[in-house]
Formats: sequence, C-alpha cells, structure tokens
Amino acid sequence: MKHKFIGAIDQGTTSTRFILFNFDGEAVFSRQIEHRQIFPKPGWVEHDPFEIWENTRKAVMTVLAEDNVRPSEIAAIGITNQRETALVWDKTTGKPLHNAIVWQDTRTADFIAELSKDGGVDRLRDKTGLTLATYFAGSKMRWLLKNSPEVKKAVTEGRAMFGTIDSWLVWKLTGGRDGGSFVTDVTNASRTLLMDINTLKWDEELLKIFEIPEEVLPEIVPSVPSKPYGYTRADGAFGTEIPVCGILGDQQSAMFGQACFEPGTSKNTYGTGCFMLANTGETPVKSRHGLLTTVLYKIGEQKPCYALEGSIAVAGSLVQWVRDNLGLIKTSSDIEKLALEVKDSGGVYFVPAFAGLFAPRWRPDARGVITGLTGFANSSHIARAVLESTAFQTKEIFDVMQKDADIEISALKVDGGMTANNLLMQFQADLLDVPVVRPVVTETTALGAAYAAGLSSGFWDSLDQLKEHWNEDLRWVPVMEQSDRDAKTKQWNKAVERTYNWVE
Ligand SMILES: Nc1ncnc2c1ncn2[C@@H]1O[C@H](COP(=O)(O)OP(=O)(O)OP(=O)(O)O)[C@@H](O)[C@H]1O
Ligand SMILES: [Mg+2]
Repeated sequence: MKHKFIGAIDQGTTSTRFILFNFDGEAVFSRQIEHRQIFPKPGWVEHDPFEIWENTRKAVMTVLAEDNVRPSEIAAIGITNQRETALVWDKTTGKPLHNAIVWQDTRTADFIAELSKDGGVDRLRDKTGLTLATYFAGSKMRWLLKNSPEVKKAVTEGRAMFGTIDSWLVWKLTGGRDGGSFVTDVTNASRTLLMDINTLKWDEELLKIFEIPEEVLPEIVPSVPSKPYGYTRADGAFGTEIPVCGILGDQQSAMFGQACFEPGTSKNTYGTGCFMLANTGETPVKSRHGLLTTVLYKIGEQKPCYALEGSIAVAGSLVQWVRDNLGLIKTSSDIEKLALEVKDSGGVYFVPAFAGLFAPRWRPDARGVITGLTGFANSSHIARAVLESTAFQTKEIFDVMQKDADIEISALKVDGGMTANNLLMQFQADLLDVPVVRPVVTETTALGAAYAAGLSSGFWDSLDQLKEHWNEDLRWVPVMEQSDRDAKTKQWNKAVERTYNWVE
C-alpha cells in the first residue's frame, strides 16, 4: 500500500492538533499548539483566526519535518473543529475581518432575549433542533455584521465570507484566494441556528431572523463527501496535493472516533466543556428535557444520521480557572493530588455557571457559586468540588438522555483530557451507578475526522471495519451506596438553584 496515513487536523478551543493515524486507527505522530484566549470584556471570548491558521500550518510542518513523513504517504486529510465559533474574512485579501467570536461568548444575550420574547426559547426548535442561546453561531455572525463597519462594507461589496472554523481551514488549505473551497459540513451547519435540520439547507426564514444574506455563507456539504472538497496545494504546508475530504464538528467527531454508528450508542467527552451525545439513527428526535437535536453525520448521498446532545459549557476549563485565576495548582493534572488530600468535598459544592447554564437547564441568568462553605473547608475541598461538578453536570444529562433517546446506557464510553483523572472517573461511575469505560485511543475527536477522510478516500471501506479498531483500556466500576448518591445529588440540586436569577 502506497499510503500509510490519514491526517487529522483537530482545531479545538484551546489548541490545534495535527495527528497522523495508521491503518489500524492508531495515532502515530502528532503535534499540538495552544493559541491565545482573548477576553476583551467580561463574557466576551475571541480567537485570532490568523493565529489558528498559522498554528495549523506549524503543526503540520513540524510533523512532516521532524518525524520524517513524506507528504505522499498521506492518503487524505480530515478536519474536526471547535463548533459554533463564528468568523468572517475577506476573500480578496484572504485576511480575517474581525477576531472569531468563540462559542462561550455571551455578547449576543440581549438579542437572544429579545428574540425569545415572541414564542420563547423553543420557537426555532422544530426547524433547528436547538434552543435559542448565545452559544450558537447565528447570533455571533449577526453581531459581526451589525457591529463592525469593516465587515458591513465587505458584505456590501461582495467580499465577505462567513463561516465556522472548518470553513476557514478548508478554504485556506485548498488555496484560499486562489480558488479555495468555501464549504461547511452538515454537523457544523447544524449548530448555527441557520440551517433546517430536516432539509440540511440554509433556511430562508432563519436567515431573515438573523439578517444574514445567504451569499456570504458556505455551501453545506456531507461530513464524508463522495468526492473531495478540494486539494492541498503543492506550494502550501503539505507541499503536495492531498485530498481534503472529511469534516465533523468536534463532538460529532468524537462519536465517530468512538465508533458510535448504531442507534442507541453514546459517549461523553470531557474537555474544555463536556458533551454527551446519543445516536438516534435516521430520525431527528425532539427533546422534552432541554437536550439538543443535532446532525451526527452524513455520508455521501446517504440519509443523514442524527443525535441528541447534552452540552455542558464548563468542565476542564474550570480546572484551568483554578490553575490560572486562583493559582491553587500549577498544571491541570495537579488537581487530583490536591483533591486526594481529603476524603470528600466536606459539603462544598461548586456550580461553574460562568456563562449561564447550558443543558439541560439553559439558564442564561445563572452565574457561578461555591456553596456549603464553613471554616473547615480548604483548597483540597474546593479541588474536590471542582472535579465533582463535572460529574454532577454529566449526571443531569445522563438521566434525561436516557428518557429522551429512549435508551438504557449500561456503561458510559468516555474520552477527552479529563479522563486522565482517576478520581473524577471513579466519582462519575459512583454517581451514575454504571461503569465508565475508556478506549485505548483517547484522541477520539481527531480519530473521527481521520475516519471521515479515510472512508471518503477509500483508505478504509466500511463503518464495520472501523468498529473493529475500538478497544477498551480502562473501566471504573461503581461502589457508592445509593443513599450516599441520593444525598449528594440532592445537595447538588440545591447548589444549582443558588445560581439562578443572578443576572438581572
Ligand atoms: N488530569 C486532569 N485532571 C483534570 N482535568 C484535566 C486533566 N488533564 C487535563 N484536564 C483538563 O482537560 C481539558 C483538556 O482536555 P482536552 O485536551 O480533551 O480538551 P479539548 O476540549 O480537546 O480542548 P479543546 O477545547 O481545545 O478542544 C483542559 O480543560 C484541562 O484543564
Ligand atoms: Mg477538543
């Protein structure tokens, strides 16, 4: 076989990874580069799209140069990305017209509140599968259009290209100003509030609500296309023409990487935020409990596959906050040692509603609290409460997911950076009362994008073949008493109620 690898670009909220996977789905070479988090005001979060592009190029070029990989050994490139982050660039200069507005950003809260007045937060649910929230890309694109004179001018003059991070990277990789492909895949488009999840097309009524002209938006394409979106350039980072032929939003990609191809299968990813998804097959299932309906993937001309999703805004980022803003630890992994100095949280609960609460509660008015403090509490109790908050938030999703998707999750498949934390994983199993299971390859987000590109290019030929790559690494088994579980959950619910009605 001439081709040895599939390349995956994983453009995340905090960093960009480039990983080469071999035929057995093993990560062979990789590089990861962090980018700046820009906070212009409380509640605002931005990234520099140019920095993200430069980091992508650097990650690629370092792997090729230092690991002695010949570009001709790479069969295809897949892309996975932080979802809902919106940006706009000038197609004549190839330069961003503004910083990207990141998914966590709440600057469009007033517009969303205004929009919800007529018909409530569920008014667009049938069409989009989503609740009205600042989280999604649509209101961010609207903000860029309304608030930046430069963007406005570029739109009038037909120079503006709006998109999510996938669109930006594919355009840049496939030539940019010189004929780059302007596309977004169905999974990313399903997080904008602008696409009808039934037709998989930009929707006239939605575009009108958000005041976005259709001509500035990319073409919506399958996650696993029948033919490549485009090819890398001989004069670019790869130095040769390689098909770019797979895109999945990061959470959908992790589902793909976990081989959750059958209806009823599910996973939870513990990264910056925490995201549990369950495959619901060819039907978009409407949630009754605050979950989102989202496109899971679309392969070529086949019918799309859908998922229910519970999105938690703050998980690993709370550990980073304890590190960077409180200075209690030096690295994220130090939190486990600090937490292990005490046997429990000492009655302390931490609800990290920094950007309001996402699923299943969707409370934009909520803000973070630490409750149950007494003179007894110390930094170790707080560290424990920090880790437990991720597990409690996951339990809320886990409970409603089974109701909405009408499934029983008998063991939870997990991945993401926080799954390195043994204390958290054990507490998670205890709280859910089912085993928590981690696969050998924990870079499931990147793996999913590699699978998409590998299926499209013929490197792999079927989903069944990919399923065989999945192997269990570790399993945490519940040991907690039911009475203990109930008592802790009750206190958690009380703590969450303390976060409500904070923002007027
Ligand atoms: N041992 C650990 N214990 C607790 N949290 C950890 C540990 N190691 C990493 N983390 C947290 O996990 C997160 C990183 O995980 P991961 O690399 O999966 O994130 P990510 O979501 O892919 O990042 P991005 O948002 O850039 O995609 C960070 O927020 C970090 O604080
Ligand atoms: Mg990630």
